[in-house]
Order: sequence, then C-alpha cells, then structure tokens
Amino acid sequence: MKAYFGRRSTLSASHRLHSEALSAEENRAAYGKCNNPHGHGHNYVVEVLVGGEVDEATGMVMNLVDLDRAVQQAILDRFDHANLNLDPVFQGQVPTTEVFTKVIFELLDKALPAGSLDRVRVEETENNFFEMCR
Ligand code: NI
Repeated sequence: MKAYFGRRSTLSASHRLHSEALSAEENRAAYGKCNNPHGHGHNYVVEVLVGGEVDEATGMVMNLVDLDRAVQQAILDRFDHANLNLDPVFQGQVPTTEVFTKVIFELLDKALPAGSLDRVRVEETENNFFEMCR
C-alpha cells in the first residue's frame, strides 16, 4: 500500500506574462496588468507530494532531508529571488503559474527517485493555486 508525504516550501520570484504569439493588444487583453512591462512578484508556496511504500527499516516513504535537498537544489536555488522570464527554461514559454508548476514537476521528477513524485501544487496567491499530477 502506498503512503504519501507532503512538504511545503516558499519562494519569491517575479514574472511578466507576455506571449510572443500574441499582439500587444492581445497580450493586454489576455493578461491585464500582469502584462505590465516592469513585471511583478509573488511569494509562491510550493507543495510537493511524494508517494511510495513505507520502508520497513526506516518507517518512512522518503527521508525528509533527501526531499528537502532535492527541492533546494532543483527549485529554490534556481528560482528563489529570480526573474522567471530570464531563466532559460521559460524561453519560448510564458511563465504563468500553470507553466511554472509544470516546470517544477519536471525538474523535481528528475531529481527524486524514479516515480516517487506524485504531485506538485503551487499557490500563487492566497486565492489561487495550480497542480500538476503524475
Ligand atoms: Ni503574477
């Protein structure tokens, strides 16, 4: 039977929502003030859920230290206090929180033991959140 372990982290980053596929007018219509050329910031809450068998020897799904290290190295070191638009992973993609959640899932999926990452949830504000599930 599978057990799940979740962990929350916070990171602050800025972004500007602007699509090269849309005209200036379409960008303003799609993104409103989030299309402002100067960008804006969020204090994101990133929730990571890993799942697996409970190890008989340790009693754990995954060691918290190992999970924290993966999140720190793959996500926080890269994106905390960053301008998301300038990160190469967002070249050709709009750094909406939908896309950011997908990027976080893909980077963590590579950093964690195969198949252990079940879900990533990113809260952009207290009123909205995005999820990517396996
Ligand atoms: Ni925003």
